Amino acid sequence: MRDIQDRGLLYITENTSSFEYKAYGRALGIEPLGIREFNTEHLKLDPNLIFDVDLRSNTTMHKLKTMLNRRGTGCRIFLVDTSARTGMAGARILDADHVLPPRSGADVIHAALREFHGMVVKPEITRSVDTGIAALDGGFRSLLRDEIFDTAGMENASSQIIDAIDSAGVDDWMATVRGYHVGTFQHCMLVTATASSFARQLGMRRSDVIKVTAAALVHDIGKSAIPIEILDKNGPLTPAETQTMRHHPAIGHDYLARKSRIAADALRSVRSHHEFLDGSGYPDGLSGTEIDDITRIITISDIYAALVERRAYKPPKSPDEAYAVLEGLAAKGKLELALVRAFGKVSIHKKAA
Ligand SMILES: [Fe+2]
Ligand SMILES: [Fe+2]
Repeated sequence: MRDIQDRGLLYITENTSSFEYKAYGRALGIEPLGIREFNTEHLKLDPNLIFDVDLRSNTTMHKLKTMLNRRGTGCRIFLVDTSARTGMAGARILDADHVLPPRSGADVIHAALREFHGMVVKPEITRSVDTGIAALDGGFRSLLRDEIFDTAGMENASSQIIDAIDSAGVDDWMATVRGYHVGTFQHCMLVTATASSFARQLGMRRSDVIKVTAAALVHDIGKSAIPIEILDKNGPLTPAETQTMRHHPAIGHDYLARKSRIAADALRSVRSHHEFLDGSGYPDGLSGTEIDDITRIITISDIYAALVERRAYKPPKSPDEAYAVLEGLAAKGKLELALVRAFGKVSIHKKAA
């Protein structure tokens, strides 16, 4: 898995504003990158590339020929209408490893990547990751449309994820997510796996582990309403952008409170996962006992996952480095020390424990 996860995956499209590209990107768990914005910086990590662009355009062909003249070791996938000769020829000129029909399912794309890199991935992992991503995608869309949230679907996805992690191990599960997904979906899925194994580690009963897992899946659902330019900004946010970003817990909570059947304590964690025990968090500045156990579990998992995430330009922290940051926050009184210590025993942090 390491090969894909270290190099990253880019989805290059005609433009980033079209709903179609965004929707497809979301199904893959990748934010689209416009062909005009695509530049040599993006090739630094030698990423796997998925092109969803018009290869009949001379400008596009010229740009791609120049940029892709040197062959890296990443996979090149072109989404081309196979009946369009010009497109097929263009893909061949650009040394395509796979030419697939537009809107090919995530499973097809992932299989192509695995085949290219000669990897075998455990099917129970990919199935549960795909189910989780589909549930997330559905949830993000439902929030935007203010539709009823599919609570049963989210619980079903949580249940599958718990079983897959049980049988295949949390490390491989997380590696699969990091290999194929970027951005908010990658983050949500990593928080989910982390919180789920943490809950298991704490000896919670199955129904509570499902509750924690589902809470983790939806904890950032409010980000659905945050502009993509802010969510995916490469660099620090301005104070105004930070203010906007900080609305996401309340947006997610308000939506789920009205439109879902999610348990009250799981719901609270959606609102309060950015609170700290010393009262320095947001949105309500809660402190100490005002922050319940599920929320504390989600907060620790959220911070840990954000640190080990792979981003286009930022190398991820190792599990040990990420764990050290948690210990630092506990020392400052922001996180519960005993809980952070217990977290150190989760399998992904064996070395730190
Ligand atoms: Fe968040
Ligand atoms: Fe988060």
